[in-house]
Amino acid sequence: MYNGGKIIIGLIIFVGLIALPFVFSGKGASAKPEPKLDTPEILKLPETERKCVESKEYMKREHMKLLNEWRDWVVRDGLTIYTSSSGKQYTMSLQNTCMKCHSNKTKFCDECHNYTAVKPYCWDCHIKPKEKEL
Ligand code: HEC
Ligand code: HEC
Ligand code: HEC
Repeated sequence: MYNGGKIIIGLIIFVGLIALPFVFSGKGASAKPEPKLDTPEILKLPETERKCVESKEYMKREHMKLLNEWRDWVVRDGLTIYTSSSGKQYTMSLQNTCMKCHSNKTKFCDECHNYTAVKPYCWDCHIKPKEKEL
């Protein structure tokens, strides 16, 4: 009546399918984004000055907000200079300031954005930095 062989094969396939997500999640965990900071412009900075316009933690959380503020201050208020909380001054420009240091858009901005599936539309108008193919 019962076909023992088929049941066992069925069980093996069933257990395999259940285990599949665990096998893949192990891989996924190591594919976390690693934004690269080794651009020529950043490497030119002395090691003690190798910093962003604000602290790394702040930039990680708030860079989108800061970019919106920069745009509003430039486009609406006609300002050009941003004074950071440490007193350093920067020209408020996506292309000429952010992307001058972070000239590796694909290995930096996109590295995180692809992971979190965000697609900023900025590059419809703003020019992407030229990147060397590795
Ligand atoms: C003077 C060069 C320079 C400029 C200009 C600059 N950055 Fe950075 N940025 C850095 C460096 C260096 C770090 C790494 C800081 C650290 O490790 O403390 C960094 C870190 C970051 C991080 C965090 C990365 C991470 O691994 O968590 C983000 C996001 C970021 N920058 C975005 C921007 C944006 C957006 C702008 C323009 C508003 C900008 N940066 C302007 C040099 C720069
Ligand atoms: C450490 C990871 C990380 C890096 C590096 C990074 N971003 Fe982001 N960015 C994010 C995350 C996460 C979001 C989505 C945040 C949210 O939805 O609250 C985001 C959102 C944005 C947004 C808003 C997009 C939207 O549709 O709301 C802009 C603009 C942006 N990033 C620009 C940049 C630029 C330009 C760079 C490179 C200079 C950069 N980011 C580098 C993680 C990163
Ligand atoms: C429809 C076209 C368009 C899109 C899309 C766009 N911008 Fe802009 N942006 C402009 C124009 C035009 C200016 C004014 C240029 C100037 O005054 O030099 C500007 C100015 C800016 C400025 C200040 C000046 C500069 O040179 O950077 C920032 C910062 C900025 N935009 C950020 C962003 C960010 C971040 C995004 C994506 C979330 C974005 N923009 C999307 C057209 C656009």
